[in-house]
Amino acid sequence: MLISENFCIKPFTTFGVEVRAQQFIVVSSIGDLQDLFKEGFLKTEPRMVLGRGSNVLFTDHYEGLILSCQIRGKEIVEENDDYVLLKVNSGEYWPGLVDEIVEKGLGGMENLCLIPGKVGAAPIQNIGAYGAEIKDVIESVEAFDMTTGTGKIFTKKECDFGYRSSIFKTKEKGRYFIVNVIFRLSKKPKLNLAYAPLKEIFQGRKEEEITIKEVSETIKKIRNKKIPDPDSLKNAGSFFKNPVVKKKTADKLRQQYKDMPYYPQTGNKVKLAAGWLIEQCGWKGKRIGDVGVYDKQALILVNYDNASGKDILQFSKKINASVIKKFGIHLEREVIVI
Ligand code: EPU
Repeated sequence: MLISENFCIKPFTTFGVEVRAQQFIVVSSIGDLQDLFKEGFLKTEPRMVLGRGSNVLFTDHYEGLILSCQIRGKEIVEENDDYVLLKVNSGEYWPGLVDEIVEKGLGGMENLCLIPGKVGAAPIQNIGAYGAEIKDVIESVEAFDMTTGTGKIFTKKECDFGYRSSIFKTKEKGRYFIVNVIFRLSKKPKLNLAYAPLKEIFQGRKEEEITIKEVSETIKKIRNKKIPDPDSLKNAGSFFKNPVVKKKTADKLRQQYKDMPYYPQTGNKVKLAAGWLIEQCGWKGKRIGDVGVYDKQALILVNYDNASGKDILQFSKKINASVIKKFGIHLEREVIVI
């Protein structure tokens, strides 16, 4: 295992800011983790795991240890006429995996195509898009406890999934290194066309005639129009979560803003669209120096070239302040700020 000191991690995050990590180690197997534990490396504070770095923003150099997850490989662990249980190691790249699964005609991941990131990050923040969430196809997650040096399998229930959240982001934050995820994929796929623009596109078609490949290709087209590819424009997807507020608050706002997107949730709550709120505050397409709000989707902040993490964070705070001022709503970040 190679231990790099004072290592530039710019290419390891999709925001691509210029920062260094005091120590940087590539982890390629569970054996690597066991060795690192035995040698005491995992006691380093702070320490963190990076997948593709597509949901983090570094605001300074990292004075600690970064573990880069590169455990590759996958295998079928169970199969029958109805489903396949596929174990995928955490260092596999998510978009490639989805394409491969869709190509095989296995259902459950097709709405989640093109999301930049690695498999290990998918359960941590319960990635979601176009009416689907990864929790719906997760069977279990195997993780390495960096505090005790032992492995643990989390059932789906134990993962405690929520909107862009799981136990790995809340109660057990920073403790586990995700080693692999088992996905339950259907051989008799049921399409998920709940997302309104998708429903519209497929309107009038018989569901039996629509393939998951077609759904995935359609989503790719929608996505490519709205979300920039981090390989060509540096970004970390949605910077903020969509706020979930009390129905009373949402209803009051809706009286004033008749066209405000409004998604009823359980527990007398309503989810609002952060992108809409930000756009209403006049931020869409705005740029200050090298930081900007993407002109096709106001939820996405972009680094046009040399913005620092601090520039991006400052910019996001200005957006939040104007949303609070206009709507009285605080936006929570989806991106993890370090
Ligand atoms: N909207 C605007 N202006 C904008 C953006 C959105 O008015 O600039 C409105 C849209 O017209 C629509 C509503 O807001 O009425 C919702 O927009 P959209 O369907 O584009 O989705 P989103 O809520 O903005 C979420 C996810 C995305 C995911 C899309 C599609 C979050 C925080 N974001 O965005 O996820 O791709 O739905 O399902 O939940 C990510 O997590 O990185 C991400 C990109």
